[in-house]
Amino acid sequence: MAMWRQLADDDVESLLRVADIIDTELPESHDVVAERLKLFPDGCLALTENGELCGYAISHPIRRRQPPALDSLLGGIALDADQYYIHDVCVLPELRGKGLAAQAISKLLGIAERYSSACLVSVYGTARFWARYGFLPPPSIDEVLLVKVRGYGDDATYLERLKV
Ligand SMILES: CC(C)(COP(=O)(O)OP(=O)(O)OC[C@H]1O[C@@H](n2cnc3c(N)ncnc32)[C@H](O)[C@@H]1OP(=O)(O)O)[C@@H](O)C(=O)NCCC(=O)NCCS
Repeated sequence: MAMWRQLADDDVESLLRVADIIDTELPESHDVVAERLKLFPDGCLALTENGELCGYAISHPIRRRQPPALDSLLGGIALDADQYYIHDVCVLPELRGKGLAAQAISKLLGIAERYSSACLVSVYGTARFWARYGFLPPPSIDEVLLVKVRGYGDDATYLERLKV
């Protein structure tokens, strides 16, 4: 049975292999993944089945509406970070539709409770999927954020979930 656990340092290579299958249009480097794991391990999850990594989730706090550009190092987590950013949730195609992403998102939203809001950049036409969890496009975003979001592809959309 596939289960989520904390991501470990020695999962990063396997994560990149899974990302090569799923996230082909938005590649990120080993250093970027390893740095997020080091800076905010609680927000990094591995989905495993029979010892094999078959999905992952990466998330961390940011300053409000200042998500990192694609494939960029964070340098650190700001002490005044006040928003929780879900960077990526991926499940291999053969395991989809079983509620596995929902399990990971529920864990991440538990962490997000500590912050005043949560956000993400929706890609691959997933805005409707994220709306289930209360992530919606804000009425407007500034130019700096807009340019950053465009870096994630033409269909990328910034979504935000306010605390209820
Ligand atoms: C999006 C993703 C993580 C969902 O994983 P999953 O484990 O299949 O999700 P769940 O089983 O929890 O939820 C499945 C439900 O979401 C719906 N769903 C999945 N992708 C969707 C999409 N792009 N738009 C709308 N609904 C979607 C399914 O139709 C299904 O609906 P149902 O519950 O009514 O049957 C997975 O499809 C994936 O890895 N996609 C590629 C990577 C990606 O796009 N990640 C998000 C980047 S922002």
